[in-house]
Amino acid sequence: MQSFIRHRRLRANEPIRRMVRENHLHVEDLIYPLFVVEGEGVKEEVSSMPGVYHVSLDRLNEEVEEVIQLGIPSVILFGVPAEKDECGSQADHEQGIVQQALRQLKKAFPSLYLIADTCLCQYTSHGHCGVVEDGEILNDVSLGRLTATAVSQARAGADMIAPSNMMDGYVYAIRRGLDEAGFHHIPILSYAVKYASAFYGPFRDAAHSTPQFGDRRTYQMDPANAREAMREAASDVAEGADMLMVKPGLAYLDVIYRVKEHFDLPLVAYNVSGEYSMVKAAARNGWIDEQKVVMEMITGFKRAGADLILTYHAKDIARWLQEGR
Ligand code: PBG
Repeated sequence: MQSFIRHRRLRANEPIRRMVRENHLHVEDLIYPLFVVEGEGVKEEVSSMPGVYHVSLDRLNEEVEEVIQLGIPSVILFGVPAEKDECGSQADHEQGIVQQALRQLKKAFPSLYLIADTCLCQYTSHGHCGVVEDGEILNDVSLGRLTATAVSQARAGADMIAPSNMMDGYVYAIRRGLDEAGFHHIPILSYAVKYASAFYGPFRDAAHSTPQFGDRRTYQMDPANAREAMREAASDVAEGADMLMVKPGLAYLDVIYRVKEHFDLPLVAYNVSGEYSMVKAAARNGWIDEQKVVMEMITGFKRAGADLILTYHAKDIARWLQEGR
């Protein structure tokens, strides 16, 4: 009778390791975020996010061509408007930066899947994700603005609407608005579980969306809570979400796992800006092996249950996959 179990038999060489590998990363799993800015001839690196750029419309197609060549099927668009105001009027403007980008990309690259982030914080002067009155972020009033934004994005060519604002009832409101406008066929990817996270710091630099007063803790979730994540996901499913997102990713792998166990919808993990910048900074210092760390991290999201990963590393990952490393 044997005295102990020999696990190493199945780790002895690369062929057997490949044969018993449980999770695989495919280029189809990746969604690449793009920051579109107004102006001309702009391709400017975001200082806190090396390798990530602000791109103006006239430079957008070249950026996207690279994404397509790498086999990445989808991008998510974030707009950085030149003008902001109290109610975020650029968010649902027909000539808004995202609407223009959507029309341009749909025309130039009909087979690229276009996801529109639907939020107000980049467009409002106060930097909050909803409408503000007397220092308060108003829920139900915000739903009207968000719905109008989603409909205008669909009209401009968005294939999918991804609301990230964390107001209550946004999936319900946006679904109704899309249906009424004839966009029954446009799915909603809900940022269902979005924490009030310090990991969004570099994104707020990139999107100029730092709140000008207070913080987002009256609408984004407390990082200490996991059961609440299930309530958030359940309500979004009931309201008609087609896919769910958990955000951020790394510090919330348990939440990804739980959401995947309980809900059958496709699940996206958002590998957010702070997670990206930490890796970049450490790699630049020679403290970690960037490629190995990124692949381990992204595989971790898959193992936890994510079907898709929204990540600023997407182009690098696609390149590494192509090279078969
Ligand atoms: C907008 C939005 C944010 C992110 C995506 N959409 C920022 C925030 O909520 O403050 C963060 C993404 C990232 O950090 O990569 N609501």
